[in-house]
Amino acid sequence: MSYEKNARVINDDIFDLVNSCFESERSNGNINPRLNFFDDYKKYFVLTDDGSYSINSKEINHKIETLHTSTGAISESFEKFIKPMKFNYNENIAILDICAGLGYNSSAAIADFIKNSNNSNLQVDMVEISKATLACGLLVPSPIKEHDITKKAIEKQLIKENYASINYEKQEIPKNININVYIEDARQTIQNLKDNYYDAIFLDPFSQNMAPELFSLDFFKEFKRVIKDTGIIATYTSSAPVRAGFIEAGFHVGQGPIFGRKQGGTLASPNPKMLDKSLPKNDEIRIALSDVGIPFRDHGLNNNSDVILDKRTEVRHNARHNTKISSAVKTPIFLTKKMDDEKLKRRVERNLVKMNIPSTTSKEAFYILECEKNYQEKQDLKNNSRNRILDMIKKLEKVKNGNYEIISSEE
Ligand SMILES: C[S@@+](CC[C@H](N)C(=O)[O-])C[C@H]1O[C@@H](n2cnc3c(N)ncnc32)[C@H](O)[C@@H]1O
Repeated sequence: MSYEKNARVINDDIFDLVNSCFESERSNGNINPRLNFFDDYKKYFVLTDDGSYSINSKEINHKIETLHTSTGAISESFEKFIKPMKFNYNENIAILDICAGLGYNSSAAIADFIKNSNNSNLQVDMVEISKATLACGLLVPSPIKEHDITKKAIEKQLIKENYASINYEKQEIPKNININVYIEDARQTIQNLKDNYYDAIFLDPFSQNMAPELFSLDFFKEFKRVIKDTGIIATYTSSAPVRAGFIEAGFHVGQGPIFGRKQGGTLASPNPKMLDKSLPKNDEIRIALSDVGIPFRDHGLNNNSDVILDKRTEVRHNARHNTKISSAVKTPIFLTKKMDDEKLKRRVERNLVKMNIPSTTSKEAFYILECEKNYQEKQDLKNNSRNRILDMIKKLEKVKNGNYEIISSEE
């Protein structure tokens, strides 16, 4: 319980109320606190636009996040995590649901499987650090009927771990579906999972500033080990360090669906065939060339969030003007562009000169961005975000070290 108390989980008030609800269930063998909880404490649940409920997080660094987007909690599960998958429902499917929370993503996967499967089996491995958060999944009204299946699995595990004591959920888990619920830090769980096993990984932590440990390169290396070659990872964020982390861990990356945010999420796969849409061009450029593309590191998978954030700040600082172009004023996105704003131009070129790039329209600038001439939104085996990013990284290094030979001509 003590790690859960310190981890980035649900809001303290509801956390205490849920714990005392189940404490009373354990001591009195009475189901009523559980059944009345939602009506008694409805104000702690956040109604989202599609009618499904969410909860607020703990306050961290003066910020509170909800567990789901206000545009629609269960819709987000279908749009961001299920739709981009390319499951072959004639075969058995295995899904790893990291940060399972109220169980919405797993429930959406179960609903999709039941609708489309053909005599195959589904394995869902849910990982959530907080018993109280999973218990909230038993307390909210189910947004879809398949959530009752997830509730049954959560209840079983909470009883096994002596948190709940009453076997109340009526919905049985279908015979061709098996659900494991791991209540622990996902960084520990993943180290014990099988190689080359999962068709999908749902990665749904709080934001990177709250939970950088779940977006680190070191964590993604474990994803690379447990995912099948045709597997897909889906996460809601469009963040540069997260995408950079996937690339450094050996994944291809692509743009995920846009839902409830301005930008699309991120998809990653060992296999470029599984990803249709490139990242936006400017995102590729910033990830490859500027210090925003420095991933989070969590050596040993056991550092706390503040250490991970501070360490990245330090590494970014050292990389700036040294191995990476400064991210200030989004400098790299002006490469190869003529600039009218003189003041901005001066700032941009001050940063470029430090990397041996004399101006935004210099030969060096065109050389580094050469691969972006062939940018296309639809990715394929050769023309894709990963290859372009790696190409730009290599060329920036050559320019900085002054050891490049071929200089492409200006357009
Ligand atoms: C954005 S919410 C996930 C919502 C969830 N996917 C759903 O369908 O309801 C993030 C969750 O990550 C959990 N979490 C935080 N740190 C974790 C860790 N180290 N390992 C596993 N889960 C963690 C939190 O308790 C919280 O429930």
